[in-house]
Amino acid sequence: MTSAVAPDIDLDDLLGDEAINHPERYYAKLRQKSPVLWNKRWKGWIVTSHEAVLAGYRDAARLSSDRFSGPFGAELRNAESSSQQLLGFLSKFFVWKDPPYHTRARALVNRAFVPKNLEVIRPSIQKLVRELADPLRGGEPVDFLSRFAFNLPVIVISEFLGVPQEARNDLHAWSEDLGAVIFVRGHDDEKLKRGEAAMTKLADLLRPIVQDRIAAPREDVLSAFAQPNENGERLSEDEIIANAALMVFAGHETTMNLLANGIVAFHQFPDQWQMLRKDPTLAPKATEEMLRFDGPIRGLGRWAKESFDFSGQRIAQGDRVLLVQHAANRDPAAFDEPDKLDITRWPNRHAAFGQGIHTCMGAPLARMEVQEALTYLAGEFVSIEVTTPKLEYNPTIVSRSLKQLNVRFHES
Ligand code: HEM
Repeated sequence: MTSAVAPDIDLDDLLGDEAINHPERYYAKLRQKSPVLWNKRWKGWIVTSHEAVLAGYRDAARLSSDRFSGPFGAELRNAESSSQQLLGFLSKFFVWKDPPYHTRARALVNRAFVPKNLEVIRPSIQKLVRELADPLRGGEPVDFLSRFAFNLPVIVISEFLGVPQEARNDLHAWSEDLGAVIFVRGHDDEKLKRGEAAMTKLADLLRPIVQDRIAAPREDVLSAFAQPNENGERLSEDEIIANAALMVFAGHETTMNLLANGIVAFHQFPDQWQMLRKDPTLAPKATEEMLRFDGPIRGLGRWAKESFDFSGQRIAQGDRVLLVQHAANRDPAAFDEPDKLDITRWPNRHAAFGQGIHTCMGAPLARMEVQEALTYLAGEFVSIEVTTPKLEYNPTIVSRSLKQLNVRFHES
């Protein structure tokens, strides 16, 4: 992850080696040309300055998140008809909706994200971190993604929602297939079919649990989703299922990739690991810096509901816009020495959780997981060494995810 001079590259190639494996160099080149730049291949605007990315996230009035109308909707509508059930569920994901649907659904779901519900699961997160860290011992390289990073968030989200223990392995398996659709690893029919199968199984798994919580609420998040608000409005059974599924993916793949990218960052900046070991109270700032330095989302799409001027460019009604968080987080206009991991950096106005009406709802939970993991791992392991010879990232526009990550954790 050096910022050495980039080779001559095709700036329109968002999926080329330079963009995928050296994003800080690639996005810097785009930003230098223009913070809002037309991309011929993607047929949309790529936004790379901190100021413009945050402005874009805040501008829900002009930049739509709706995946079922506008240019993204056309792509989905072209999908095979067998995927209609999947699309039916996805169409209830409020992250892909504009007001007023978004406002109503977010408010109903948000009631579950109260500090009480979060603090209740902190001890289980701590216990889980200790258990999952055991296989990392012994000084041999371990597959960090499958042994640790994959497991922690999916078990935590199951616990948070109140999914019974015996159903968690299935959740684990299906979330990956659905993730392939949600994180836009292509909308090809094969993937949509796998996503469809996963969503059907997930819905079958969740439906009796949701019905039970509607009939007999408990002290858990699914029960909170099921409760009517003070105006008597409530989410329908399908909406509860869809939003529980949304939590699984929104919270799973992101947190997993953040943990993995963070380990790579500490391998590259071993002095920062030592600093954290000396002062574990830095874990919250270190978590924010991991989110800034190499967060799990590269960028997210929007489309223009009307024509408007945006950072010197004329955006036309219907144009697609990609708000690149990774680029915002490495913008030298916003951060001193942006390509350096500095776990004391403060304030840290990174864009990793978005901004505005769609700001990540699970941020407190993700932070808690990562802070607990960091505190424990830094306490136990004197150093970390990435042993995968050449790190490669999945070719997607949306996520920043490693294909493989083997790590040796040194206990002494
Ligand atoms: C490091 C981990 C995470 C990152 C980087 C992350 C990032 C984001 C971002 C950037 C958005 C905004 C989407 C947009 O504007 O289109 C978002 C929304 C959301 N996130 Fe997260 N997220 C993480 C973890 C979680 C977790 C653990 C949960 C659930 C427990 C979660 C639930 C959600 C939900 C429900 C939304 C939709 C909010 C809305 O549309 O109003 N996220 N997340």
